[in-house]
Amino acid sequence: MSKSIVSTAVAGVLLALGSQTAMAAPDWSKVPKRDIHVFHAGVTPIEWATKKSDHSGSAGMRKGETCAGCHEEKGALNFNFKRLADKELEPKGAPKTMTFPVSTQVAYDAANLYIRLTFKAPSGGADKGDKDNEVKATLLFADAKVAQGAQYGCWQSCHNDARTMPGADDKKTKYTKEGAYELVQWASKGNKVSDGSVTTERKMSGGGTGAKAEGGKSGDGYTITFTRKNPGEGKTVPFGVAIHADNSHGRFHHVSLGYTLGIGADGDIKAAKQ
Ligand code: HEC
Repeated sequence: MSKSIVSTAVAGVLLALGSQTAMAAPDWSKVPKRDIHVFHAGVTPIEWATKKSDHSGSAGMRKGETCAGCHEEKGALNFNFKRLADKELEPKGAPKTMTFPVSTQVAYDAANLYIRLTFKAPSGGADKGDKDNEVKATLLFADAKVAQGAQYGCWQSCHNDARTMPGADDKKTKYTKEGAYELVQWASKGNKVSDGSVTTERKMSGGGTGAKAEGGKSGDGYTITFTRKNPGEGKTVPFGVAIHADNSHGRFHHVSLGYTLGIGADGDIKAAKQ
């Protein structure tokens, strides 16, 4: 075979693979939607959440109650947002919009998990630390070694000495004391996708999810579709969502509480089989 015939054959295979991937993408009109409300959490890291004098929920947390179990009511969050915007919990200044819904759909096939987020990113932020990206959307998936990973969501990665916390070292990223989170992020500038992790530090690359993401602004909102490796049929995976709106960075995001994702298994959201 001459070289050009080989490369044509290879191109043909790639084309076939490409169209197969496109065909495998879920039919979103058939996948149920679940609103996950994200909120501006101020300075309430895990040290705050687990301290009795700061957070009366800490007693219930020790008994195994989940954050969402106490704070999600009728599909929305029952927080005292005045308190979360006040100097005590937000010394820098709170965004105008303290909470908003992220419509979440999840589907899977043998190879992949597909997660589609649709939301309106609010303006009126108090921090514009990320000049490049108007919006970022991040997913964290706790592994089984993160203590209370399913119960506490992303909070085990959120500490009072991490960057953008009051008085913290700007080089210190989020981290875990044990276990790891997979981190997948879409950033609006250039549709950048990061496949990273959070262990003793946060890394924006080197992750094992094989993440892809596509999306962007559509109408007055954003729709972002993540594709990542299927963690395994029959598994229930803890996950959380963070949206950095209006060029915010670091802790100035809107975050979800922890939820579980069932892949052919029970969960707050059951992924639809394709
Ligand atoms: C057993 C129920 C319970 C659990 C579990 C719980 N909380 Fe709370 N939380 C409360 C109560 C009650 C308050 C309000 C009074 C207080 O802080 O003492 C509160 C207050 C808060 C506030 C401050 C805003 C407000 O409304 O006062 C934040 C933020 C918060 N919780 C986050 C969390 C997070 C994050 C988790 C999980 C890591 C969690 N909570 C788990 C009951 C709970």
